[in-house]
Amino acid sequence: MLRFPRLICCASFFLVAVTASATSLLPANGTLGAHELFKALQSLNVTVQGRLRASVPLAKPCFSIYDGEHVPVDPAACSVVQSNYTNPDFRASHFAAYMVLQSEVCEASPQPDQCLLNNADPSDPAAFTGTDCRLGNIPPHYIEVAGPSDVQAALRFSKETGVRLSVKNQGHDYKHRSSGKGTLALWTTRLTSMSHNAQFKPEGCSSTYDAITVGAGVQTQEVYEFADKVNRTIVGGYHQSIGFGGGYFLGGGHSVLSPVYGLAVDRVVQVKIVTPDGAYRTANECQNSDLFFALRGGGGSAFGVVIESSHRTEPQITLQAAVLNFTTQSTDDLALWYTLMVNNSYRWANEGWGGHIFGPSLTHVNPLLSNVEAEKSMGSAIDFVRARGGSAVVEQFPSWLTFFNKYVLAAEAPVGFEISGGTRLLPSTLFKTESGRAQLSSLISSALPFASPEMIAGTPWLFKSTPNASSVTPAWRDAIWHMALAIVIPYNLTLAERTETYQSAEEHLKPFRDLTPESGAYFNEGDVYEPNHEQAYWGDNYPKLLEVKRKYDPDGLLDCWQCVGWRGPSDPLYQCYIKI
Ligand SMILES: Cc1cc2nc3c(=O)[nH]c(=O)nc-3n(C[C@H](O)[C@H](O)[C@H](O)COP(=O)(O)OP(=O)(O)OC[C@H]3O[C@@H](n4cnc5c(N)ncnc54)[C@H](O)[C@@H]3O)c2cc1C
Ligand SMILES: *[C@@H]1O[C@H](CO)[C@@H](O)[C@H](O)[C@H]1NC(C)=O
Ligand SMILES: *[C@@H]1O[C@H](CO)[C@@H](O)[C@H](O)[C@H]1NC(C)=O
Ligand SMILES: *[C@@H]1O[C@H](CO)[C@@H](O)[C@H](O)[C@H]1NC(C)=O
Ligand SMILES: *[C@@H]1O[C@H](CO)[C@@H](O)[C@H](O)[C@H]1NC(C)=O
Ligand SMILES: *[C@@H]1O[C@H](CO)[C@@H](O)[C@H](O)[C@H]1NC(C)=O
Ligand SMILES: *[C@@H]1O[C@H](CO)[C@@H](O)[C@H](O)[C@H]1NC(C)=O
Ligand SMILES: *[C@@H]1O[C@H](CO)[C@@H](O)[C@H](O)[C@H]1NC(C)=O
Ligand SMILES: *[C@@H]1O[C@H](CO)[C@@H](O)[C@H](O)[C@H]1NC(C)=O
Repeated sequence: MLRFPRLICCASFFLVAVTASATSLLPANGTLGAHELFKALQSLNVTVQGRLRASVPLAKPCFSIYDGEHVPVDPAACSVVQSNYTNPDFRASHFAAYMVLQSEVCEASPQPDQCLLNNADPSDPAAFTGTDCRLGNIPPHYIEVAGPSDVQAALRFSKETGVRLSVKNQGHDYKHRSSGKGTLALWTTRLTSMSHNAQFKPEGCSSTYDAITVGAGVQTQEVYEFADKVNRTIVGGYHQSIGFGGGYFLGGGHSVLSPVYGLAVDRVVQVKIVTPDGAYRTANECQNSDLFFALRGGGGSAFGVVIESSHRTEPQITLQAAVLNFTTQSTDDLALWYTLMVNNSYRWANEGWGGHIFGPSLTHVNPLLSNVEAEKSMGSAIDFVRARGGSAVVEQFPSWLTFFNKYVLAAEAPVGFEISGGTRLLPSTLFKTESGRAQLSSLISSALPFASPEMIAGTPWLFKSTPNASSVTPAWRDAIWHMALAIVIPYNLTLAERTETYQSAEEHLKPFRDLTPESGAYFNEGDVYEPNHEQAYWGDNYPKLLEVKRKYDPDGLLDCWQCVGWRGPSDPLYQCYIKI
């Protein structure tokens, strides 16, 4: 795994000048002069011991024009970027690189304001020849956060200058909430501590848990490896580089193990966080419990900047994995496959299966069944796939990590492109009744010409959660599938084409919303333009969340798109979002 060398900084370097792009920071009232801002940044850099950085777009070495000026191309550096353009570890190691590329693009700009390669072919010279590489939506400056005092310094700076803040961890966000043109960013990936305590006691509480404590910046795969080393299982997402201790658990956190072991918000037992009022707080069920509730699903950076968090573990588990795929003959045949999935998924959920169904493939795991039971349980799906000459395996694994290494790394969602879409939590009524199944199957069939929906059996179906302890929408608790419907879009769309793409995604999601008016959507993977987002993401928990937001962020220093207490799309912070 790519990691940064520790920054070694010495006092004599403190006064190195802050570079010219200081003026591209965005003070909210627009009245602070460039010179004042420059001085303020310099002094901030001293306070954070030189950890303030100017951003450079990932693909800049390929371009001969940067921000309107001619610059030398660096062919060697360009070729490294080209060959690693869709590599998640490579992207995670660069501040200015995000997994979903709209985060880097000022989409609302009538002229291209971005610095992208052609993701379909990063060597394609058409992307960078004679093209202006621009910062787009990337924050011009960032602090490599080393601890709570860096965050406190940034909050003071924001309060004094009016410069707006953003918070980035691994940059997985689908809604561009971890970037922001003109913002000063807090980058938390260097907070990489990990420890295990079989008798972890949340501060001020009496009960203990077997728990792993992680710095905000650890990646999911690193936590899996660490847990395995201490002979435990930790429940997490289906991708190596998701920010386990950042956006992932804050917004909900589903796993293919969630049907049995719950969501990440069900498993976190303590969070240490700098709240926007500047205090470094410990939140758990015994202190700051209102904040703890908000951090279990309230999401994004709305409630502060997380420094570390502690999560319950399970013993090592024996796992059955069913891995099925085939080549589709036709859209009708694919529709039949999805119908088979709809027909069986209520039973599968009750048996403890979790997994992903995407196009003509299924990967599910089960920690409750034996290998023989698992094979029998999947029988009709196995027959369907074999009848089409596909491959079907039901395999036993001695641990979560061995399954992850063999299957997830090969099957995880790719990164390094733009994507437009959204999600819906599909409630159990659609699976329990004949008419529900018929309705859902028919809707899926009609969506297939647009995109194959990804059906994630990652809801906490069998898990007994403490009522009202987390703030995710209660719709999670009754859902069998979390459905994602999305399409990949080219890197070089015009403003009009991008707008159209978002509208088209809206049109295809609408019937699923209409079919499930009482349900909701997953905050972390939601549509950028989720209608009625407060209800969709949090349901009846929203009023309480808003109260907590006002208590800990009285000056409204941290805001993000469709987050709790959102100021709305017209705030200059959102100048790069297309207003559709
Ligand atoms: C390829 C891919 C696969 C995914 N798979 C899954 C999956 O299996 N399960 C699942 O549940 N989700 C999955 N997701 C969604 C993922 O959980 C969210 O994108 C999540 O927000 C990522 O967190 P991050 O910290 O890595 O991302 P970032 O983009 O860095 O941050 C996301 C949000 O969290 C905030 N944030 C980040 N760090 C902090 C911090 N330290 N303190 C306060 N706020 C912070 C940011 O401001 C932003 O609002 C996937 C996403 C992608 C792109
Ligand atoms: C902040 O200070 C460090 C160390 O002196 C320096 O390397 C860095 O370039 C400075 N940051 C900016 C944005 O100028
Ligand atoms: C980038 O790609 C090259 C060639 O594919 C590879 O050798 C190198 O390790 C990669 N670098 C990083 C930092 O991932
Ligand atoms: C701009 O806003 C900042 C922060 O709120 C404040 O300190 C500063 O005085 C404001 N400037 C003017 C001229 O109003
Ligand atoms: C690891 O955990 C399993 C399950 O709890 C246990 O049976 C086994 O003895 C442990 N192994 C070691 C080396 O501690
Ligand atoms: C099924 O997936 C495996 C592994 O990804 C792949 O090698 C194989 O070609 C696929 N089979 C079909 C029929 O798609
Ligand atoms: C799904 O179930 C319905 C009855 O509930 C049945 O008519 C249909 O054939 C089944 N389809 C598949 C593909 O299993
Ligand atoms: C949970 O919250 C709801 C709505 O606020 C309330 O009606 C219900 O009684 C609560 N349940 C418990 C067990 O506290
Ligand atoms: C976008 O890029 C593709 C591939 O290089 C090219 O075929 C297409 O013409 C480009 N579109 C625009 C609008 O430039």
